[in-house]
Amino acid sequence: MDFKDNINKNKLPKHIAIIMDGNGRWARQRGKERIFGHENGIQAVRETIEAAGELGIPNLTFYAFSTENWCRPKKEIDTLMSLLVSAIRSETPELLEKGAKLKAIGDIESLPPDTIAELREAMEITKNNTQLNVIVALSYSSQWEIIKAVKDIAKQVKDNKIDPDKIDKSLFNSFLQTSGTPDPDLLIRTSGELRISNFLLWQIAYSELYFTPVLWPDFRKKHFYQAVLDYQRRDRRFGKT
Ligand code: IPE
Ligand code: IPE
Ligand code: MG
Repeated sequence: MDFKDNINKNKLPKHIAIIMDGNGRWARQRGKERIFGHENGIQAVRETIEAAGELGIPNLTFYAFSTENWCRPKKEIDTLMSLLVSAIRSETPELLEKGAKLKAIGDIESLPPDTIAELREAMEITKNNTQLNVIVALSYSSQWEIIKAVKDIAKQVKDNKIDPDKIDKSLFNSFLQTSGTPDPDLLIRTSGELRISNFLLWQIAYSELYFTPVLWPDFRKKHFYQAVLDYQRRDRRFGKT
């Protein structure tokens, strides 16, 4: 009996968000450059998508590149971006086979043109799939997203398209990048860091948080199942008794 068999199929999270962290440390432990860790992180993404697909979890969000990550050395950013292009290209057939739809959140326009083009093509090719949404957060930060939403709402208020008294949670949600996707039930962060790093701050108001010391390139299906099992043992009260 492995972890997967213990998972209750009637109590699955509808959305799992993941802060994939620890690639650099994983590479350093092996005396390699940080990018070696990023390259090896792709297998972990592949396994996670596969595991979510097999269980029937409909939404998976990966934090792949944050607004703050633009402050890393140019060489690391450039290599990460080209890695992204090649990964999207090589994984698209797999996404199609699994019935997965690729989506992106974040300031996509700020990415290099070839990354944008590759991303758009993969989103177009997979747009009719309904089994699983694979959402990548790229050039994303929650504070950027919230400020953008506030600006967009303010413009509509100014144009008399929105009555300020009608601004509520659901209207605000509709202006976020994640509009249309349920909030994460479970947030996983690898590498032992106990922080959120500007990820989905609004959306994780009632998410269950799961931290594991496993470095992202080592993350496998069994770790994903363990996180789901841990989630299923929790009592979610949402402020009630
Ligand atoms: C996560 O791994 C990947 C990205 C943030 C792009 P890191 O590159 O942050 O690896 P560590 O945290 O330095 O080990
Ligand atoms: C968070 O990881 C961002 C991503 C996983 C894309 P970081 O490695 O950038 O976060 P900090 O700097 O440790 O908070
Ligand atoms: Mg990190």
